[in-house]
Amino acid sequence: MAAIIQFMKTLPKNSDCIITTVTGGQLGLEEPFIVKKIKSIIADKESGFDGKQGEIYGFSTITNNQLTWYVVIGIDKKPSVLDLERAGGKLFAHIKSLKVKSAVMDANMDTPDLAAIANGFYLRSYDFTKYKTKDKSQSSPITLTIKTDKKANADKDFATMKSISDGVFIARDFVNEPPNVLYPQSYVDAIKKIFKGTKVKLTVFDEKKLAKMGAGALLAVGKGSQHQPRLVIFEYDGRKAKTKSKDISKPLALIGKGVTFDTGGYSLKPRDAMATMKMDMGGSAAVVGALKALNDNAHDGYVVGAIALAENMIAGNAYRVDDVLTSLSGQTIEVCNTDAEGRLCLADALTYVQDTFDPVAIIDAATLTGACMAALGLEMAGVFANNKKMETFFWESGKRTGDDFWPLPINKDFDKLIDSDIADMRNLATSPYGAASTAAVFLQRFITNDRPWAHLDIVGTAWRKGDNDLNTKGASGFGVRAMVDWVVNYK
Ligand code: BES
Ligand code: MN
Ligand code: ZN
Repeated sequence: MAAIIQFMKTLPKNSDCIITTVTGGQLGLEEPFIVKKIKSIIADKESGFDGKQGEIYGFSTITNNQLTWYVVIGIDKKPSVLDLERAGGKLFAHIKSLKVKSAVMDANMDTPDLAAIANGFYLRSYDFTKYKTKDKSQSSPITLTIKTDKKANADKDFATMKSISDGVFIARDFVNEPPNVLYPQSYVDAIKKIFKGTKVKLTVFDEKKLAKMGAGALLAVGKGSQHQPRLVIFEYDGRKAKTKSKDISKPLALIGKGVTFDTGGYSLKPRDAMATMKMDMGGSAAVVGALKALNDNAHDGYVVGAIALAENMIAGNAYRVDDVLTSLSGQTIEVCNTDAEGRLCLADALTYVQDTFDPVAIIDAATLTGACMAALGLEMAGVFANNKKMETFFWESGKRTGDDFWPLPINKDFDKLIDSDIADMRNLATSPYGAASTAAVFLQRFITNDRPWAHLDIVGTAWRKGDNDLNTKGASGFGVRAMVDWVVNYK
């Protein structure tokens, strides 16, 4: 269970764990024996602790039979918010390893900085133990009490950050959920619960409505499953009446790929490649988490979302290679590989949102191509955009949020590779090279009016094989922080 964070003017006495900071050799608290101890440790070249950003040093004392841990973390003179969050995450991991259940922090810092450390601590404390019936000990929460004279400010600063982290947790929970439990309709039911009583309006299209609409691409992907596709639309309008001017009459749009399990279909994935394909709805989970965070922070803009949910399975009625589909846009698609299904789902979601809301700008997030992961590795997602501003935004935003992006190309040469002999386009390029870019140009064919658009291929980052400062292994919730950052800062 996630950590519990509180801010107080005076700390409870006799805590078993006391945290402080060291910045440029200066300790964050005044207790003479700790100051002396840490200064001597820093001076000792062989101690391995210099007090640099993110370095941790811990020691313990025993007084009157009581064991007390002291944990000191190095913080730069001018740390970024992300530096502070990462330091908080490191503190959580360290304190968890000490097996203490509560800690206090006494550090002479401003409230936004304390809140950022608290937020990192909180983000790193996530775990998913729902299906563990035996060892629940791991999941009892650790309480962190932080000292500050400005409790009201700290509470407020942290609440804003925590809303976004809770959005990250929503996304992590959905991605961790196994595919026998999470399928299109059960996902819809869970989403309805989350948004009950909020300002977010939901509209759900089931397979009958999708067929009436003509969403032939999304429907084809999910045809072979017992669990038929869904398209979920979210509308959040936080505009204040007096600011409802013409330039903000149109929303920003967030679109997500929600393939609840990807077997590959008849272009079946090999045994090992199918494992973890429950995470193929990671883009959609980011949309859900971001919208909940925007709602909870009473964001003052207008945002719509769409997630295309389907399960890519094999069955007598499943879609096949060589099928020709008519998408919601009217454009026809030759199916050359049933494992290139994400772009088919997204195509209809993109069309629906543009035809219905005419958004000012769009981003989509998807676990779309192994090729993107081959190019960028597991700590960075790809950004493909039809607009330099959009591309640069995500490149820079990563430095604020930790959701890191690197630009990858789209152009006419890639676009040519998806021309089809029989239909308007193929879902698999005629060349195997640049497969992340040929997937992106496929999506681009569904963007109307040259609207600013960025496609985020989060394939390598949605699911983690190991821990980092703000994440444990498993679902990362990658994309929630990036999407919120984009919506809040869009100009
Ligand atoms: N869901 C996969 C992408 C993926 C790969 C997610 C690895 C997570 C880990 C996607 O639907 C897919 O199968 N992509 C194919 C596209 C190819 C057929 C053009 C791929 O990348 O191999
Ligand atoms: Mn696939
Ligand atoms: Zn997929």
